Amino acid sequence: MADKRRFELFARYLRERFPDARRVYDVAGGMGRLNAELSKVGFDCLTYDVRVKRLPVPFNERRFSLDEPCDCDLVVGMHPDGATRLIVEYAAKHRRPFSIVPCCSDDGSPYKSWMKVLRGLAEAAGLRVEESELPMAGRARVLTGSF
Ligand SMILES: C[S@@+](CC[C@H](N)C(=O)[O-])C[C@H]1O[C@@H](n2cnc3c(N)ncnc32)[C@H](O)[C@@H]1O
Repeated sequence: MADKRRFELFARYLRERFPDARRVYDVAGGMGRLNAELSKVGFDCLTYDVRVKRLPVPFNERRFSLDEPCDCDLVVGMHPDGATRLIVEYAAKHRRPFSIVPCCSDDGSPYKSWMKVLRGLAEAAGLRVEESELPMAGRARVLTGSF
């Protein structure tokens, strides 16, 4: 069971880590809970997911892709499942920083190996990668990449 505090904790981490960022894409954002927390700390956030039942937050009800026009300062994902790799690739393609809290891999890798795969992907694209941990239960490690 994922920790219910994950959205608030991640939002606070992002505000501290990216004090100058304003527009954020929240990819695979589920029903928009991270969006709501990001708004509270001063971000303009747009969520991408296919969830129909959701909070009244700015939301693009579609699957995110590499071709999505880039009008953001930062791209993020909390437990973004099949979109995790995509977030890193999108950040690399559009030269934006990213921050993700990975959970399941898309290639059957166990968690630790998956984190290494993601780090390697970002570093190969020229991003500097930092790793931190949110004070919560479950998959709590954060990978953040910036140019
Ligand atoms: C484990 S849920 C996490 C949802 C939310 N971030 C949370 O922490 O509760 C993973 C979500 O990824 C979404 N997803 C997977 N691939 C996606 C893509 N390419 N674009 C948008 N959403 C995607 C699914 O629809 C699902 O809602």
